[in-house]
Amino acid sequence: MASTRDSSSVPLAGRTLLVTGASSGTGLAGALAWHRLGAEIVVGSRSAASCAQVADRMGNARVHPFVADLGDPSAIDLAIGNLEGSGVAPTDIVHFAAGGLEPILRPLLRLTAGLRRMAPSRERDQAFADGRAEMERLVAATSATGMAVNYEGPRRLFERIGPTMPDGGRIILFASVWSEMAGAGCPAFYSSVAESKTRLEKWLNTEAREAALRNVAATVMVAHVISDTSTGRLIDRNIAPLMTPEDQSAFRAAYVTTEQTITATTRLLLGPPGLKGLLRRVYQVGSDELTEAIAPEVRAVASRVPL
Ligand SMILES: NC(=O)c1ccc[n+]([C@@H]2O[C@H](COP(=O)([O-])OP(=O)(O)OC[C@H]3O[C@@H](n4cnc5c(N)ncnc54)[C@H](OP(=O)(O)O)[C@@H]3O)[C@@H](O)[C@H]2O)c1
Repeated sequence: MASTRDSSSVPLAGRTLLVTGASSGTGLAGALAWHRLGAEIVVGSRSAASCAQVADRMGNARVHPFVADLGDPSAIDLAIGNLEGSGVAPTDIVHFAAGGLEPILRPLLRLTAGLRRMAPSRERDQAFADGRAEMERLVAATSATGMAVNYEGPRRLFERIGPTMPDGGRIILFASVWSEMAGAGCPAFYSSVAESKTRLEKWLNTEAREAALRNVAATVMVAHVISDTSTGRLIDRNIAPLMTPEDQSAFRAAYVTTEQTITATTRLLLGPPGLKGLLRRVYQVGSDELTEAIAPEVRAVASRVPL
């Protein structure tokens, strides 16, 4: 019997996508969607069990594990060696994995719960100032982890895999509107993630285009809060309520959903590769449309998020 799947239903057939952070949130949604579109998927996670669960959801066909903590160079090398050993060569990398927030989440939640109960007052203003100082201390103590997971690890991955990617292969990485406010306007709790993501972008934009990634088209997708992810829900429930009512509405109106993010990323994967070796930035705010710039009022309200 002839196959009912013509090539238009499998537009990613022949591509092998290494998806980091494919065990949850947007990375998982993307991995499943692109597998349905015909791609072979390399599932990135720190956990072999999570990779196996994702593979089960793909019918254990056209799927391979990439088990590595991106903060651990030897684990990255081992996972790449395993891929090479099984003859799997990624044509594209979609880099979702992010780390560094875990150690500060519990203190952040405790802090926001207390602040939400306080009426506007001088004591509340002081509690905000103390809270920001506490966040800055915690972030400073954990910033090496953020740098390892969000900069050094992905850089090693791109340096090792980039040279074998085919001409026109894509690297797509995800950033938040706060990433480009590192040092000015970024909330204290996110500052280490912002700095490490920005460092990776700078590297991609300069050294990478000259060296390992000369055949590759790289895009940074700057998304606003992805409201149905666990991080998005945490921000919406715990941090947005600390803003003024006007800022809350403007901030929430700019949210995107996982589905919108994956729709937009799929368009990037299927569209023309763009200029090789030149880092392109695109923004996703309030819809699945991608724009080349972000509205100043969205940037302004994001910079007024307290803590
Ligand atoms: N959520 C938002 O509102 C939002 C907004 C803008 C941009 N972004 C960006 O979009 C991307 C996806 O966000 P998300 O919220 O969907 O992600 P998420 O659900 O928090 O998932 C993070 C992923 O990263 C992996 N990961 C964490 N630490 C790792 C490490 N040390 N080594 C390897 N993998 C690690 C986790 O896998 P394991 O635990 O299985 O290892 C998990 O699959 C991130 O880059 C994020 O910064 C998110």
